[in-house]
Amino acid sequence: MSTQISTTPLRNRTVGEIAATMPGATAIFRSFKVDFCCHGEVALGEAARERGIDVAELEKALLALDVSEGTKPAPRETGELIDHILTRYHETLRRELPELIAMADKVEAVHARHPQVPHGMADILRQMLGEVEVHMKKEELILFPAMRKRAAGGLDTPIAQLRHEHVDHGAQLEQLEHMTGAFTLPEGACRTWQALYVGSAKLADDLIQHIHLENNILFPRYEEASRS
Ligand SMILES: [Fe+2]
Ligand SMILES: [Fe+2]
Repeated sequence: MSTQISTTPLRNRTVGEIAATMPGATAIFRSFKVDFCCHGEVALGEAARERGIDVAELEKALLALDVSEGTKPAPRETGELIDHILTRYHETLRRELPELIAMADKVEAVHARHPQVPHGMADILRQMLGEVEVHMKKEELILFPAMRKRAAGGLDTPIAQLRHEHVDHGAQLEQLEHMTGAFTLPEGACRTWQALYVGSAKLADDLIQHIHLENNILFPRYEEASRS
């Protein structure tokens, strides 16, 4: 599923439509206490006024999500590449995955009898959060600091373990895609369901790009020297 591009100013778009089409927007709405689900037909400007929020501040937070960020070329220098992975992928995942879990819980409960409800999606997302968190901690506390201290090579053993875990993350993504028909929404899906699938599709894209940067660009720098 691709993100829809709208040229209408954010303040004139409804909060429900923004939540359904802008990955990560629901977390911003929750932090500003904007109801995107039951009162999704309200324009962002109106919703901000109702809650006494500065609409410019809300728009700024939404635009900062920068959904095009993932397509920018990654830095080449190792320290900068690690910083990029940490801020663009590790932080984003920690911010967005709990939000998806909350939405999956809600969709599974509210639409329990719908033939296309993704039964078990919240459990898979919860399992992913637990496993990916442990994995990222290994990178942040052990592997990345070791990489920052050396120019190349010598880290084959921890890298082999992390590569193995990446395969497990990929298998979980496949499970998610299978149970949701590749994040295909049923006719008349509610805003939360839409936001769940748009956000999950982004999570999948992010995770694939994240693993690509590590497996194909960063990790080989620390494997080659030890093999030669
Ligand atoms: Fe990572
Ligand atoms: Fe990783």
